[in-house]
Amino acid sequence: MRVSTPLADRFGRIATDLRVSLTDRCNLRCHYCMPAEGLEWLPREEVLTDDEVVRLVRIAVEELGVTEVRFTGGEPLLRKGLVDIVRRTKALSPSPEVSLTTNGLGLAHVADALADAGLDRVNVSLDTVRRDTFAEITRRDRLDDVIHGLDAAQQAGLTPVKVNAVLMRGVNDEQAPELLGWCLERGYQLRIIEQMPLDAQGEWRRDDMVTADEILASLASAYSLEVSPTPRGSAPAQEYVVDGGPATVGVIASVTRPFCGDCDRVRLTADGQIRNCLFAREESDLRAPLRSGADDVEIAERWVKAMWVKRAGHGIDDESFLQPTRPMSAIGG
Ligand code: GTP
Ligand code: 5AD
Ligand code: SF4
Repeated sequence: MRVSTPLADRFGRIATDLRVSLTDRCNLRCHYCMPAEGLEWLPREEVLTDDEVVRLVRIAVEELGVTEVRFTGGEPLLRKGLVDIVRRTKALSPSPEVSLTTNGLGLAHVADALADAGLDRVNVSLDTVRRDTFAEITRRDRLDDVIHGLDAAQQAGLTPVKVNAVLMRGVNDEQAPELLGWCLERGYQLRIIEQMPLDAQGEWRRDDMVTADEILASLASAYSLEVSPTPRGSAPAQEYVVDGGPATVGVIASVTRPFCGDCDRVRLTADGQIRNCLFAREESDLRAPLRSGADDVEIAERWVKAMWVKRAGHGIDDESFLQPTRPMSAIGG
């Protein structure tokens, strides 16, 4: 390893998991993320080119100790150069684990190409298996595309295929056991996520949020659950063994059971900003130095500085909490 400096912070955490947003655009309009009319997209010239993305990822992997790279969006399948970016990322030395978090639209067409480029696995967002509920949440009638995408990912070996579901009260909160049954039948690993205050509209209310306790109670009405004996490490999801195993279901309780103390993540936005936390209110610009001829050492030093000042936690429960100005779709989760 040629790690010159790890991405450490004041609380002893080391970031080794880089989440790269490749675009802020999306072809769905999920209520917990975007308004119906969409958002003002980043101007093209502000978005990093493929070469710029790969250069920053290379610096992270070769100089800063990053071992896992996840591509996100918006919707990362909308990024034209995705397959090439994955191939070049996987070819780095040491080769990182490379994964993708996607809404699954169009995944059926590119799953084989992504696997061939070296993508290890995918996480697909799917909140319901009912067509009408899907259309209500995403404001698009595209459930079948997502189902085909999941199937193609499984066939292409992009496994374990994980399914991410956000529950919305009065919309799909009673469908958790049904969704779990559907995932178990197909061998997908379901994770149910507490909704976070990251919607562009600022409509999140803690009282409306379906909590981990409620998620677990709902699942327990149909399945027996035991906390998984596998160590959780820095993962957002707490896994539970279902009906004696081997299948598991995860719960991502960012709000009621925060896991910030074990965080190993750092984020790069599509326009070249480092975010040391999902909920960071300050970002560190790497695009300007990148475009004005900075060498790898200078970029790595800026990155190290950006991480050092990471806060202890997201502070959602603090009275002073302010939602980040960048919405979920422009951070990538
Ligand atoms: P795996 O490694 O496959 O388990 O991925 P993951 O669960 O870390 O990533 P994914 O992109 O599938 O995200 C699932 C959910 O976890 C999304 O709602 C993310 O916003 C949330 N999440 C991911 N990382 C963090 C984090 O660092 N903090 C918080 N609060 N939530 C996170
Ligand atoms: N809270 C929690 N998770 C969210 N996601 C999108 N918006 C939110 C939110 N407000 C999830 C999506 C996707 C992942 C990247 O983040 O379901 O799977
Ligand atoms: Fe890490 Fe911030 Fe997520 Fe907490 S909220 S786990 S500190 S990225």
